[in-house]
Amino acid sequence: MSDTLGSFFVLEQARDYLLFFSMVTLLLVIYVLIRNYRATKNFEARIEHFSSLTNDTFARELNRVETSASSYNVKEGSFGALSRILDAYAVSTTGPDGAITYANEEFCKLSGYSKAELIGRRHNMLSSGIHSAEFWQNFWNIIKKDKVWHGQIANMNRRAEIFWLDAFVFPLSLISNATNGYICLASDTTKLQEEVINKGQQLEQVESMLMQSEKMASLGTISAGIAHEINNPVAFISTDIRNIGEYLESLAGIARLMKKDWDPTKYEQFLGKVNVDHIDPEEVDYILDDYPRLIEETSEGIQRIKTIVQDLKAFARKGGDEFLPTDITRCIRSSLNLARNELKYSIRIDKRFLDSLPSVECAESEISQVLLNIIVNAAHAIDGEGTIAIGTEYDNGFVRVRIKDDGCGIDEATRSQIFEPFFTTKSVGRGTGLGLSISHDIIVRHHGTIEVLSELGNGTEFIICLPVQQPATQPDSDGLSSTEVDTMMAPAPKCQKKSGQVSPHLVKRVYDSQQSQKHTPPLDGSQWRTR
Ligand SMILES: Nc1ncnc2c1ncn2[C@@H]1O[C@H](COP(=O)(O)OP(=O)(O)OP(=O)(O)O)[C@@H](O)[C@H]1O
Ligand SMILES: [Mg+2]
Repeated sequence: MSDTLGSFFVLEQARDYLLFFSMVTLLLVIYVLIRNYRATKNFEARIEHFSSLTNDTFARELNRVETSASSYNVKEGSFGALSRILDAYAVSTTGPDGAITYANEEFCKLSGYSKAELIGRRHNMLSSGIHSAEFWQNFWNIIKKDKVWHGQIANMNRRAEIFWLDAFVFPLSLISNATNGYICLASDTTKLQEEVINKGQQLEQVESMLMQSEKMASLGTISAGIAHEINNPVAFISTDIRNIGEYLESLAGIARLMKKDWDPTKYEQFLGKVNVDHIDPEEVDYILDDYPRLIEETSEGIQRIKTIVQDLKAFARKGGDEFLPTDITRCIRSSLNLARNELKYSIRIDKRFLDSLPSVECAESEISQVLLNIIVNAAHAIDGEGTIAIGTEYDNGFVRVRIKDDGCGIDEATRSQIFEPFFTTKSVGRGTGLGLSISHDIIVRHHGTIEVLSELGNGTEFIICLPVQQPATQPDSDGLSSTEVDTMMAPAPKCQKKSGQVSPHLVKRVYDSQQSQKHTPPLDGSQWRTR
């Protein structure tokens, strides 16, 4: 009985102990859970707070953090909970030797490597080689002073592609009880960087084009002066060569007479005396036959120089915005002269100029500029042999100039951009992309239209339509003059209004082929007479 009672008390005691230990363990577990929960909450709140801050503010705030082992015990290389909070970031940690100790999903995704492939390997396995030695020196200087480094880092992923990170890098000791190692919190900014790089490249291209167009502008200004300088000597060379021709003609007359009237022996003796290097009678005959050809060729060359100089002067003339009655056929001829170098010998020019084309009230140098650009564009579009057909037409107060080439043509997508400033498909130095944009503005200022018909592989035709007389400027009720139009649009005179009248309709400056054909029949030459 006493044995039974003794056993009962022992059991009772053991149960009490067990209960007591269970209670203590439970309390301990609850304490640890509450502590961790509070620490996590605390950290989440901070991270949330940091995320709302930017750049420097973020860095400053982070420096003030005193998160220690007691508030959140993050072990180096075990950022499970933290990385869940920071899922939006690419997170990685490294040991003091630069070996990767942790990488979250986002970091693995960006780098293209798995965790297993990253951990243990040095971080510079992702190096892009883009950053300079100074960049890295500055980076290490900051983080070694227990500060936060913030900046853009270019890394290279597994596929050898660059990916950009907007990164905060700082010692782990700033947010944990780790005594060494670093953490990197980063977001992917590859797209943004690519845009910045693209914009930078575009800017560089525009700058170089601007420089080129400035160069062309100053060349235009000085060419007027050069033309003037060339004009003077050319003028007296031209007079002198005419006189030389006349003198030679007289001397040739004497020589021919001597040969005819003199005794041949006396003639030969005479020739022997007059020339130190003996000249025989055949040579004299040759000279007498040949010199008129030489004089004629020289005169023709001088005439060509004169024409080019005059065309250049007209083209570069200042105050070219004065509207005066102008012979458009002469403008076309001048532009062809100036474009001679671009036209090469392989390009045939088919001129179909209307007889008695009425003068057009316009700024001659501006219209020449438009024609020159379209002719040069046509020449550039022809690879090898080809033809540029240039024709003029008159229709009810409007003059139409058609310039058609059988070159490469323009596809639809390009056609919609060719009038945009700086749009070019040519290499730097060959084209600035300003030609058609400026041409369009000039034609609009003249109350005309410029159209393009083109098909890839089938050549291009530009059609310029200009009113013979400019409309009188009348202020509208809104105070704007009726001649002021949106530079994106050109008035559509359709070439059949009476002179001085401009259609109130505005049409888009770029027509597609079908639309344009409604207004302007294609160039078949049937309505042209050749001059
Ligand atoms: N006749 C044509 N045939 C084919 N493409 C053409 C023709 N005319 C113009 N283009 C296209 O239109 C683009 C823009 O022409 P635009 O005259 O404005 O500039 P550009 O000739 O490139 O340079 P620049 O400022 O020296 O004139 C050209 O780069 C070319 O792609
Ligand atoms: Mg051009």
